[in-house]
Formats: sequence, structure tokens, C-alpha cells
Amino acid sequence: MKICASISEARSACRDARANHRRVGLVPTMGALHEGHLSLVRAARAQCDVVAVSIFVNPTQFGPAEDLSKYPRQFERDCRLLEQEGVDILFAPSIEEMYPQGAISWVVVEGLSEKLDGRSRPGHFRGVTTVVAKLFHVIEPDAAYFGQKDAAQLAVIRRMVRDLDFPVEIVACPIVREADGLAMSSRNAYLNREERQRALVLQRSLQETQRQFQAGERSAARLISAAKEVFLSEPQVRLDYFEVVDPEMLDPVEHISGRTLVAVAAFVGTTRLIDNVVLEP
Ligand code: PAF
Repeated sequence: MKICASISEARSACRDARANHRRVGLVPTMGALHEGHLSLVRAARAQCDVVAVSIFVNPTQFGPAEDLSKYPRQFERDCRLLEQEGVDILFAPSIEEMYPQGAISWVVVEGLSEKLDGRSRPGHFRGVTTVVAKLFHVIEPDAAYFGQKDAAQLAVIRRMVRDLDFPVEIVACPIVREADGLAMSSRNAYLNREERQRALVLQRSLQETQRQFQAGERSAARLISAAKEVFLSEPQVRLDYFEVVDPEMLDPVEHISGRTLVAVAAFVGTTRLIDNVVLEP
């Protein structure tokens, strides 16, 4: 695995690798890799000739009161895991490399960026789209792999790619869960034993939604109120949002008649977790 710390090094490694029309897949990450990330790497490995992974804890997507400094960093371990998965190129730039002194340009997907997590985390998606656009310019991937767990992020990135004509296919990969159903996330590492148990309420609320949907319920308001009742069983978990929206524009849906995203975010202690399910009538 070739490890590149500079943009020029990564760009030329990817250009060389792409010779003879070889397909390049990119898995953008912030490191602290878990099975969820590795499932993206495996999907890229199965579909592409060359697999590039980026590890960059992107400061511009963290709010001033968020966990940038304590975000888990395990570079050596991440490298070992990526080697084992047969990754070809690892791009791991410094903050200075990604954001040159005086950088004032941003990529913003207006409107979408203020919905779901964007409402709770102002500026978050502006940071995500800016860094993902930069990664696309550096690596020039044919396909890029993202987890369905970050459903709002996926919608915002898909829209950016569509609106700005990035020549890249966005591939969404299913949520990977722990044995007890908790969606895998680097932030799960912050949870103590009690919080880890309480965190299961996110998944339970979505299971209740699925159960009612399968029983024929189509009213978003009724599904939301049933899910909120599930949260009453864990009073120490603070619900941020529970929304039923269309998966592309993230607008609330009243009556479910097409593919619909049910997304939840909640604070377990100080850790904010997200999860979702897609309902298909
Ligand atoms: O999903 C993530 O880990 C990050 O938001 C991403 C896409 C790597 C951009 O920093």
C-alpha cells in the first residue's frame, strides 16, 4: 500500500494507477476504522481495479463545541487493517496540506445542507462537501463509496455530484451493525457500558417504525409518535430528531407512498449517534 501525505503525490499515484482505463474506487474516511468502513473498502475492492482510501479528520465539518480534538485517531492500526484488505493507495494528508493558509472557498449544497444533521450541526455539511469535493479532485475516482448510515450526508454528496457534474459514481453501502443491532460508528468508542446499552433505543425506535409500517401504517405523524414513545423508555437519551423524509431532498413526508427515509439522531450522554432505515412500500 502506497501511503501519500501530499496532494501531488496522491494525484500522481492515482493517475499512474489509472493507466490502461483501470477503474479507481475511493473510500473517504476519518480513520478509526471499523467493520462499517471495511465493508466500503471490500465493496470498492470487488468493483474496482485500484482502491484508494483517505484518512483525514476534517476540521471544517466539526462545530466549535464538537469533538474534533478527542475524535479517535489510530493511524497505525488503520494502516494495518487497510493493508489486510488489499488497499492500493492511502491518502493521509495534514490539515495544512488540505487547507492552505488563507483558504476561503467552500462547496455548499444550499437548502439540503440545513436539513436533518445539518440543522443540528450548522456548517457541518459545508465542511463535508468541501472536503469531499477536494478529495474527488485529488484522487479523481471513478466510484466513491459511502455508508448508508450517514443518509443525509449521502443525499448532500449525491446532489453535489449531480449539480457540479463530478464524473464519479456514488455507491451507497448498507449499514453494518454490532451483534445487538447498534449501528457501527467511530463514536461508539465514547460510550461507557450503561450508555452502550441505552444507545440501543435508536435501533428499537426504527424497528417499531418498521413493524408498524409492515402492519400497514402509512401516516408519518403516527409513525413518529410511536417511535417517540419508544424513546420514553430511555429518559436519559435525548432525542435530537426523528424524521420521515424523502431520501433525495430530505423533505418531510406526510403520507408514505414511495421510497422513504426514516432517520433518527440522539444524544447518549454527550455522544451524538445517528441511525436510519429506508421504507419501501
Ligand atoms: O463520513 C465521514 O467519515 C466523513 O464525513 C467524510 C465523508 C470522510 C468526509 O470527511
